[in-house]
Amino acid sequence: MQTHNGPAKRPNKLDFLQAVSGGALALFVAVHLLLESTVIVSPALANGIAWLLEETLIAHIVAPLVLLLVIFHFYIAARRMPLRSGELPTFLRHCRQLKEKDTCFWLVQVGTGVIILVFVFYHILLVMTNLPIEVARSSARLHQGWVFFYLVFLPCVVLHSGIGVYRLGVKYGFCPQSGRARWRKGVWTAIGCYLALGLLGLTRVWFLG
Ligand code: HEM
Repeated sequence: MQTHNGPAKRPNKLDFLQAVSGGALALFVAVHLLLESTVIVSPALANGIAWLLEETLIAHIVAPLVLLLVIFHFYIAARRMPLRSGELPTFLRHCRQLKEKDTCFWLVQVGTGVIILVFVFYHILLVMTNLPIEVARSSARLHQGWVFFYLVFLPCVVLHSGIGVYRLGVKYGFCPQSGRARWRKGVWTAIGCYLALGLLGLTRVWFLG
């Protein structure tokens, strides 16, 4: 039997932990992609930043922490995923028939979230077991075929982070009903800019190889 206190409080606390871990990850991604994109203006600057992050051990400390945070975030989010039999087709039908944007966004979050969970593990392992971090090594990796990995990983990360921030705004009231269209436009603009920046960064690194 369910008590009155238990079930009512538990989802709220888990929702909050999901929001905090998601917000922290979105912030990490925003900073990571900005630092990464310094290669567009100067590969020497990108190498310098990487050197600093390694010398101060920031990269060594942050890498396992971020990986744990991704796993934690996924674990909490998984309780709401449409993974039971028959749930996914129902969600897809609602998304198509009702054209309900928030249901569609939720499905994008589930799909990209599963991809990120697997890819981020390989990404961090790949980078942290091939130190030092430097543009020449990144370029060699892209030419070894990892470019396809990043062409899937980058859009998933950017979409998931952008939609996640949008949903946080709706849920926690930063974005009231009246300002929702403007908020949505801002988020899509940020997604577009980060995607363009990431693709430009990849292109620059590719042609350095
Ligand atoms: C602290 C751990 C991390 C380190 C040290 C790191 C380092 C790097 C490096 C060196 C690259 C350049 C590509 C390469 O060399 O293979 C890169 C690219 C990238 N990383 Fe990370 N990364 C970390 C965590 C993450 C996480 C947690 C995410 C997302 C959830 C992420 C998303 C990306 C994306 C999308 C790119 C492609 C960037 C572009 O298109 O220019 N990284 N990362």
